[in-house]
Amino acid sequence: MNQVRGWGRAAMALALALCSLVAAAQVLPDKSLAKTLGVVNCASSLCHGSIASWNGSPVNQNEYVVWSRLDKHARAYNLLLNEKSRRIAANLALPQPAHQSRVCLDCHAYVPAVPAAETFKVSDGISCEGCHGPAERWIASHTEPGATHKANIANGLYPSDQPLARAKLCLSCHFGTSDKYVTHRIMAAGHPRMSFEMETFTNLQPAHFTVDADYIERKGRFDGVKIWAIGQAVAVGTQVDILLDPRRGRDGAFPELTLFDCHACHHPMADKRWKPVGGFGKSISPGLVRLNDSSMLMLRLILRQIDPALGERFVQSVVQLNHAVAGTGDMAERAKAVKALSDEAARKIAATGVTNENLRGMALALVDDGLAGGYADYAGAEQAAMALGSVVNTLHKLGQLKSAPALNKGLANLRAGLVEDEAYKPADFQSRLRAFRPLVAAPLAVR
Ligand code: HEC
Ligand code: HEC
Ligand code: HEC
Ligand code: HEC
Repeated sequence: MNQVRGWGRAAMALALALCSLVAAAQVLPDKSLAKTLGVVNCASSLCHGSIASWNGSPVNQNEYVVWSRLDKHARAYNLLLNEKSRRIAANLALPQPAHQSRVCLDCHAYVPAVPAAETFKVSDGISCEGCHGPAERWIASHTEPGATHKANIANGLYPSDQPLARAKLCLSCHFGTSDKYVTHRIMAAGHPRMSFEMETFTNLQPAHFTVDADYIERKGRFDGVKIWAIGQAVAVGTQVDILLDPRRGRDGAFPELTLFDCHACHHPMADKRWKPVGGFGKSISPGLVRLNDSSMLMLRLILRQIDPALGERFVQSVVQLNHAVAGTGDMAERAKAVKALSDEAARKIAATGVTNENLRGMALALVDDGLAGGYADYAGAEQAAMALGSVVNTLHKLGQLKSAPALNKGLANLRAGLVEDEAYKPADFQSRLRAFRPLVAAPLAVR
């Protein structure tokens, strides 16, 4: 037994050594083997706990104040003490209360992989090191004169500035991983449905950083649409990972139900909604439980703009996967193919990004896919509305769309069709898209 464990450890050390060659600090914070020090070590008024930003410092220095006062991550642990969490824990018959259960703490707090310093408190919720990585090896060096971002990353700072790394970080909790996941059982016990889009949520999180000239010089340009696009590719990959995971992907006689479209099951029988249309061959037959394809729809239209050949291969692989879900074909093999293509897409988007010329096409495709019947399911419409927010915002910043009030009104009208997921009417959402189309099809604003 001991020997087996010893081998396991040696193999793990080797794997880690190899990883560190390939992607030094890409290990997610809660997988890092460095020691966590705790928020108090960041919070001093001389460090990140200043009331106001400091002149002359490249960073704001009030990060702690913004986080502790405004950021929901600081309160994510406390949430586990409330009535709703108590009910979820009771419904699930957890042996311990929510705030002592790993199944909840894994996402509502930061649980380091190895024992932390005594100054660390799990009750601090999702604290600095939960996103920026355990500070053991970079706390001293990151304030030394001449410290660079690159050197900090080499010392174990998590590269949250890089879109691909950030998507993996945020989605590890906002979508889940094989290790931590809001299952259908947890949702049925009272947990809200998960809804996430990288760019929208990056803007929703009260910012404790400022993207100014100095930031861009240190870390590169901050490209909202790229963040959206990578977030979609990583979401598809994560969904397929979970589908493939024998431990996660199944629950008794059934697959894990959250991987499918919620409303494929959750609608009244009198509501005969099946139509022989819809993307990805998912309308193969009435009476099938459909995969949740909201992020797949987004990735399809992103790839059609930036790499049509890859886009076509991706579409074919998802169609094949849907056929396998319906019973024809090997599911594992086809899910692996989708995963490989979504990884390729994430790398491609990270490397080349999305050019300004692609943006107009994407905005129109987001609308036209819907008019063609692509958003038969709520989750797809929800992703499309968030995506239109990101793309249209960027087009406006670039001066390619004018009239912010009209655009905002149009976006608000789309969101108004999505207030109640159970009341979602595809035809109503289509008419809202039809009204929105002229706003993005308008000739280039020349001014
Ligand atoms: C995979 C990560 C993950 C796991 C596991 C998880 N949660 Fe959550 N939980 C979230 C996220 C993310 C949100 C916020 C959803 C949003 O607002 O988009 C959330 C929201 C909630 C909310 C609602 C908050 C509100 O403002 O209404 C409650 C309550 C909650 N979780 C309790 C629990 C309990 C209890 C457990 C354990 C049984 C648990 N969660 C497990 C990620 C997770
Ligand atoms: C939920 C994740 C999350 C948490 C929690 C978090 N941060 Fe951040 N932080 C980010 C992201 C995302 C960025 C922007 C990308 C980047 O520059 O790395 C950022 C940027 C920063 C920056 C860089 C600013 C710059 O100009 O380069 C500092 C400094 C920082 N955070 C400090 C903190 C401190 C201190 C805490 C705790 C009080 C904290 N962060 C908590 C996600 C987080
Ligand atoms: C360790 C898990 C974890 C990580 C990593 C994480 N989050 Fe969260 N996030 C949560 C939980 C849990 C909540 C719910 C807290 C609540 O409702 O009070 C939340 C809430 C939020 C909210 C508030 C949503 C709302 O409904 O108001 C935003 C915005 C958000 N996260 C963005 C991000 C972004 C962007 C990243 C990546 C930079 C990120 N999160 C990384 C767990 C996480
Ligand atoms: C394959 C069909 C199927 C899919 C897909 C599905 N569910 Fe369910 N859901 C069920 C069944 C069956 C129950 C149990 C109903 C009961 O206990 O009466 C249930 C129960 C629930 C309940 C508790 C309702 C109650 O009356 O206690 C919630 C909440 C829920 N599901 C949410 C979701 C969400 C959110 C999704 C998508 C992420 C989803 N479901 C996807 C079939 C499904």
